[in-house]
Parts: sequence; structure tokens; C-alpha cells
Amino acid sequence: MSPARKVRFRLNGEEREAEAPPMKRLLDVLREECGLTGTKEGCGEGECGACTVLMDGEPVCSCLVAFGQVRGRDIDTIEGLGDDHPLQLAFADWGGAQCGICTPGMIMAALALGPEPTLEDVRTALAGNLCRCTGYEAIYRAIQNAGTGP
Ligand code: FES
Ligand code: FES
Repeated sequence: MSPARKVRFRLNGEEREAEAPPMKRLLDVLREECGLTGTKEGCGEGECGACTVLMDGEPVCSCLVAFGQVRGRDIDTIEGLGDDHPLQLAFADWGGAQCGICTPGMIMAALALGPEPTLEDVRTALAGNLCRCTGYEAIYRAIQNAGTGP
């Protein structure tokens, strides 16, 4: 891999400089250089959505983004939401938090939705996020009910 370079970007709203080879995956830079292990790896091939973060407000698979691409960009990870974000609370309240691998990516993908999304909106937003175990209904219900109590 090419030598490490310093790259400045905004991480969860704060100016940040990190040093890593430009071709290192953003997923690995977040976890290893920045200490943010909330972003998870599933497939490592852009197929499962577990590693979803926002880049300039758009969901991206961080396993497919090279660190050199984030220069000057806004990157938001699950840690930036805090524990009391309506989506975090809704995943807990409505049974959407089923495992620790897919949940952060599901929440980050859902963040890009507007208020009161239809079921179709939610299905479309999460089309790239795979669950291999219990299914999607509780996840969809949590997203549709974010900001309300069960
Ligand atoms: S780990 Fe990135 S899409 Fe699966
Ligand atoms: S893979 Fe996480 S709940 Fe199914």
C-alpha cells in the first residue's frame, strides 16, 4: 500500500486530520485510526450495507471509499448521533436493534430519509442493507415510528 498521507476532513461535525495510506478503506481508517468502531464490516464488498456512513449527507459503503477520497468532505458515523437520537431510540423501542452488525448501517441509511417516510420510502432507502437473521419488519417499523413511543 502507498505511504501514509495526512488528510483533513470533517468527522461528525468536527475538523479532523488523520494519517493513513490514501487507498486504505475509509471503514478501516474510521475504526483503526479514528477509534470509531460503531461502523461495522459485514461483507467488505459493498453488498451488505453494514459499513454505511454519510459522505456529504449521502449514504455510502465505507468499505468501498478510499481514505484519499474524503479530503475536505463531511463524514458522519453512528457515533455522531448520540444515544438519544430519535432513530436510536426508535430502534430500541420498536425492536429494530436485532444485532450489532447491521444496525448502525441501517440507522445511517435511514438518516437520509425525510420525516414520516412511507413504507415504500423506507424499503427503498434500506434496499442496500442486508439482514441475515430475523428479518426487516421490526426495522421498518422502528424507522417509520422514529420520534414516537411504541
Ligand atoms: S461491509 Fe461494506 S457493504 Fe458490506
Ligand atoms: S443481520 Fe443484523 S439483525 Fe439481521
